[in-house]
Amino acid sequence: MALGPHMRLARQADLAALFDLDAITQCQDSRREFITRAVACGQCWVATDAENAALLLGYGVLDNSFFGQDFIPLVVVRDSARRRGVGVAILRGFESRALGAKLFTSTNASNLPMQALLEKCGFIGSGQVENLDEGDPELVFVKIRA
Ligand SMILES: CC(C)(COP(=O)(O)OP(=O)(O)OC[C@H]1O[C@@H](n2cnc3c(N)ncnc32)[C@H](O)[C@@H]1OP(=O)(O)O)[C@@H](O)C(=O)NCCC(=O)NCCS
Repeated sequence: MALGPHMRLARQADLAALFDLDAITQCQDSRREFITRAVACGQCWVATDAENAALLLGYGVLDNSFFGQDFIPLVVVRDSARRRGVGVAILRGFESRALGAKLFTSTNASNLPMQALLEKCGFIGSGQVENLDEGDPELVFVKIRA
């Protein structure tokens, strides 16, 4: 990938490709419903290959579901496109699109790749929530925007 991915709002017509790139949708109806709702609300963004706009490399959702703050509930990069900077591009895209001074996100304590990505992008820890997933606390992170 010579150029970085391009980000655009997801459209209804992207749903099949979004389900295809996110393996969780194969086993969780709730994930498919979440994506469908986020697309309908204009909160889902896709990263496409700079040289092939039809190829979706990943997606992320930006909403304000966390105490009314800018919040990224989900970022997913296609398996075959990982470790090529797509996750960084999605987070940077959200930093430039978020409205408030603080951009929150969260991930499980067990999700070390996501934590490494957040650290690389300058997010810092902002507490944790117990009792969501048994034995796997939800870690909250924030990026204070310049
Ligand atoms: C977490 C995830 C989004 C990262 O996406 P990505 O496009 O592979 O990330 P990037 O290529 O932008 O990685 C940037 C940096 O993050 C860190 N990182 C990313 N994946 C990592 C891994 N598996 N192990 C260690 N560090 C990792 C590295 O510092 C990396 O920089 P480097 O490649 O120069 O070493 C991807 O692994 C994914 O989709 N996981 C499944 C879905 C998920 O768990 N989403 C998070 C919950 S919201």
